[in-house]
Amino acid sequence: MTARIVVLASGNGSNFQELIDASEAGTLDASIVGLVCNRGDAFALERAAVKGVPATVLAPEAAELRPSYDARLADVVGAMSPDLIVLAGWMRLLSMPFLGRFPQRVINLHPALPGQFPGTHAIERALDAASRGEIDHTGVMVHFVPDEGVDDGQAIATATVPIEPGDTIDTLSERVHAAERALLLRALRETISDVPWRAEPTSS
Ligand code: GAR
Repeated sequence: MTARIVVLASGNGSNFQELIDASEAGTLDASIVGLVCNRGDAFALERAAVKGVPATVLAPEAAELRPSYDARLADVVGAMSPDLIVLAGWMRLLSMPFLGRFPQRVINLHPALPGQFPGTHAIERALDAASRGEIDHTGVMVHFVPDEGVDDGQAIATATVPIEPGDTIDTLSERVHAAERALLLRALRETISDVPWRAEPTSS
């Protein structure tokens, strides 16, 4: 059965593009059935328009509390009947009013290894740590999102990326991003071939 994937993104959307391309090429047994962005200026929206992927902008209302936004997000995403939800550069924390609706179905991509550099600017922080001699590699991970922990949860796949002497933020970012595009596909293939995600969603 082809997996129905909904992607949540906030920005560029290069990983969203990778999923569309792999789906079209038949190298990922998935259909990218929707994109949701929390900001109207996300370049991912233009990628969706080019490829005809249904896209929704769901911006938080002024002073809206996280549980309210996340419940609305769950309704929008739930209406797309996803088997899996992929956070590909989704730069908002998700709380249980969203996550509780999709247990074992929300997957996050993060440009660091488990337990290292959660949150924003992970690649910059890894490069800083390397310049202080603390590390000589960083990495990428794909993991399930069970709860409100930041870039934390059962890892599906990880990959190490060496930090070379003379690396700049541009050279290191390029290697990390290449590694994560490959890892995301590998992790999704593994997950899709597994069974638990086929369970029915939990009603609100
Ligand atoms: C990716 O590097 C992803 O790992 C990161 O945002 C970038 C999105 O790139 N996510 C996080 O840092 C989550 N904490 P993209 O918009 O080109 O796919």
